Amino acid sequence: MNILIATEKPFAADAVGKIEQVIETAGYKTTLLEKYTEKQQLLETVTDVDAIIVRSDIIDAEVIKAAKNLKIVVRAGAGYDNVDLQAATARNIVVMNTPGQNSNAVAELTFGLMIYSARNFYDGSPGTELKGKRLGIHAYGNVGRNVARIARGFGMEIFAYDIFCPAEIIEKDGVIPLNSAEELYATCQYVSLHIPSTAETKNSINRALLENLPPKATLINTARKEVINETDLEEFMAARKDFRYITDIIPFNNANLKVKFPNRYFTTPKKIGAQTAEANNNAGIAAASQIVDFFKTGNRKFQVN
Ligand code: 3PG
Repeated sequence: MNILIATEKPFAADAVGKIEQVIETAGYKTTLLEKYTEKQQLLETVTDVDAIIVRSDIIDAEVIKAAKNLKIVVRAGAGYDNVDLQAATARNIVVMNTPGQNSNAVAELTFGLMIYSARNFYDGSPGTELKGKRLGIHAYGNVGRNVARIARGFGMEIFAYDIFCPAEIIEKDGVIPLNSAEELYATCQYVSLHIPSTAETKNSINRALLENLPPKATLINTARKEVINETDLEEFMAARKDFRYITDIIPFNNANLKVKFPNRYFTTPKKIGAQTAEANNNAGIAAASQIVDFFKTGNRKFQVN
């Protein structure tokens, strides 16, 4: 079996070594395609591989068509919106993710971004503290739970809304479950997004929802840019001069936001939420192990299609 690690944004070298070790111990071969800049490079490399490990790399119908021997794609991470599930399923290709493996890294960055904003982008002027502020966790999955755990240490009042997660689970963590996104946004000065990008959630963070936010609110996005209605966001930022948008995913309208709201808008230059040594090891090794297990025993535990 030939297993391709295709990462436009590479794992740490140490993690790559560990992933290769899992693959080679199983008697399989590793092919490495890192930092590629053209889709053509990916198309040429996939032609004879049996499995692919990716991060946010786009595995669309064209890539799947080019990968004649492909049997499994594992997204080393949580969100699998970068993989065309329909095209994969049509070829009986299994798609998996590695849930939870990088969630602490993303949760920690959420607080890095919150403090950076609360301290006025470290410009030296008096900022504010997180203690005593109300935090709204929008979706209570693996990242949301880690955010709640860390928020307790900061002494924040913690609320969550998740359409799929039962209230009892949220309450068990000392978090107050709310009944709607509107209620969450109306209650919390900080709202942290942890929803996946799906047909239902795309563009769902719109002006009507944002209008619920209290004065001096901050929206932190370490999830996906596609969930934001960016036209609405830009209009809302223009109307509400006390509102801040802080993100780990460069928006489509980054240039506009940067020019118009330099003191209330910040994006990391490249998505770094899961970019830690620990998260790279966890997600990368899990991806390789899931592939080996799938080939050796047929285990499909983390299949998403
Ligand atoms: C995920 O869905 O797991 C995160 O967004 C991490 O994405 P990355 O692997 O591109 O850093």
